[in-house]
Amino acid sequence: MKKRVLVTGGAGYIGSHTTVELIEAGYDVVIVDNLSNSELRAIDGIKQILGVDIPFVEADCCDKVAMTKLFNDYKFDAVIHFAAYKAVGESMALPLEYYQNNIGSLITLLEVMRDSKVNNLVFSSSCTVYGQADVLPVTEMTPRKDATSPYGNTKQMCEDILNFSTAAYPSIHGIALRYFNPTGAHPTALIGELPKGVPNNLVPFITQTAAGVREQLSVFGNDYNTPDGSNLRDYIDVIDLAKAHVIAVTRLVEGKGKANYEVFNIGTGRAVSVLELVETFQRVNDVKVNYKIVGRREGDIEAVWADTTYANNELGWSAKRTIDETMAAAWAWEKNVRGIK
Ligand code: NAD
Ligand code: WQD
Repeated sequence: MKKRVLVTGGAGYIGSHTTVELIEAGYDVVIVDNLSNSELRAIDGIKQILGVDIPFVEADCCDKVAMTKLFNDYKFDAVIHFAAYKAVGESMALPLEYYQNNIGSLITLLEVMRDSKVNNLVFSSSCTVYGQADVLPVTEMTPRKDATSPYGNTKQMCEDILNFSTAAYPSIHGIALRYFNPTGAHPTALIGELPKGVPNNLVPFITQTAAGVREQLSVFGNDYNTPDGSNLRDYIDVIDLAKAHVIAVTRLVEGKGKANYEVFNIGTGRAVSVLELVETFQRVNDVKVNYKIVGRREGDIEAVWADTTYANNELGWSAKRTIDETMAAAWAWEKNVRGIK
């Protein structure tokens, strides 16, 4: 019998890629998404890649009645909870919406899981929980700093909720994956990142500038204490990230975890600067990105990248894709979206 995974937020960027990897690894998937930050295009893309239909339920994960119905309609072996709001700047202006959606959806999900005896949950956490760490790279033991945005705070709070809930309901097991900076797209260019409006994140801004949708990329600061003065990040390919979820689900379903609640860094372990990333994108794709160095963006941290030793050893997972491959995939996807040959 195939195991069935509920993917919340499966029409979104990381959820859509993870759905493809789960199906290819032999799992059944049901997607639930309220399309608040995604389009049905992603569901079509998944179907085109796989050649099969994936059950899609349009519902809000905070809606307990709808979620209870979903858990009555299907028997799930595990849940991956991607559904959340994710824009740091927007969360400063709309803190209540962010707390409501990100915390509310997790609590609703855990209640319904407890009541329907679905015991395995993989949660989307973020390197944002570390803030500006004193020692780099960060390990899972690196102390979390006070959150600097409601968004980051929701990720810290969700980790805490998982920690205490898995202790109180010991049949529930959870894994939090702390992603670094996810980027890239599926090699078919049929799914990828589809931000609504002006992108906040670097790579969609680069690809849209190269495509002529944006006039100019602003590089936020070259006066940081880093080799070229621009920020350092750990850009993790979305396919490598998706595969980490398959491994985490399998670990839970097979009961191989070392504790009721586990946390893993999911990054490459490599620090790449903003300027290096722009140069790489231009070189790999032989395309020009019009950019200008401007002042620092408020709230940006100088540098963060992952120590991935724990995920490498314990999950047997490591990032395989090079930054060149990732930048090529990001551009192929943008060209497909814009109809550029
Ligand atoms: P995304 O916005 O593309 O996907 C999230 C999906 O969840 C969207 O399709 C949205 O419509 C849906 N959604 C939101 N609230 C919902 C609700 N209440 N009910 C049902 N569906 C809902 O974002 P993503 O980049 O794929 O991120 C997925 C997860 O990973 C999020 O939890 C995010 O915080 C986390 N994360 C993302 C990044 C990143 O840079 N992309 C980094 C670290 C962690
Ligand atoms: C990356 C670098 C910018 C845009 C955010 C969240 C974090 C996590 C990942 C979810 C920075 C620079 C960006 C631009 C630029 N998400 N930049 N010009 O800020 O590292 O992290 O996404 O959990 O929580 O905070 O990602 O892509 O916004 O920026 O120069 O137009 O690119 O200053 O150094 P960030 P990002």
